[in-house]
Amino acid sequence: MSDQDGSGENSDEREELVETLFHGTGTTYDDIAHLATWGRDRKWKEELLSHIKEPARILDLACGTGILLLEMAQRFDCHVTGIELRKEYLDLCRQRAAARGLNDTNFILGNAEEVVLDEQFDHITSCYIPKYVDLSLVVPHMVDMLAPGGLFIMQDFAYPKVPWVQVLFDDHFERMRERCKDHPDWNEVWELLPDVLKQSTWIEDTEAEMQKAGLTDVTVVEQSMRMSALVYGRKPGQ
Ligand SMILES: C[S@@+](CC[C@H](N)C(=O)[O-])C[C@H]1O[C@@H](n2cnc3c(N)ncnc32)[C@H](O)[C@@H]1O
Repeated sequence: MSDQDGSGENSDEREELVETLFHGTGTTYDDIAHLATWGRDRKWKEELLSHIKEPARILDLACGTGILLLEMAQRFDCHVTGIELRKEYLDLCRQRAAARGLNDTNFILGNAEEVVLDEQFDHITSCYIPKYVDLSLVVPHMVDMLAPGGLFIMQDFAYPKVPWVQVLFDDHFERMRERCKDHPDWNEVWELLPDVLKQSTWIEDTEAEMQKAGLTDVTVVEQSMRMSALVYGRKPGQ
């Protein structure tokens, strides 16, 4: 999703969509994300993690309930900052970090389109945010916060291009509503997310914005027959 003008009005609409989709879903998020991704969420994240080398300071955009952030803090024993739009999710993430004794963490409630920290990170990661934001705002802000030589890597769902895979994809989202009938808070997701994905051009937009912002070796990796993708690039220097 990208209106490319960065106007406050459209930003409010994007925030409203995110609130409509995820309101009240925090405690069930991790299990439903597993089901909604055909059990592939962990694999897609593992592929993202394989690109992270000797991190000291990681920024995780849209950290949500902390699936990726907590894994990175634990696995790499480094500083991790999370930015998240919704308090419900960020509170859960913060509580889980405390329960696991992960103290080298910082949690910021804010909109990734607007937050610019006076800090630098050697890795900036994100899962499932690009389709909800104006990438012409987010990418340059992230590149400003990226240390020379640092890696910026984004992952999200994508609408597949091959027709028979599209059929599987569409059926799956229709069935998710039935499978999750005990969790009506998720109904808006099954109703609205397929169209958000069909309309999104986040892969091409991220690639173009990363190149425009001066990142090098910008690469797109399709995952699971292009039901997901990773896009990453490196800041020149060092
Ligand atoms: C599907 S969840 C993914 C959470 C987490 N990254 C993960 O992989 O489990 C999408 C997240 O993006 C967050 N989000 C959407 N737009 C955002 C924005 N503009 N700024 C910060 N977070 C945003 C939502 O609040 C939600 O937590």
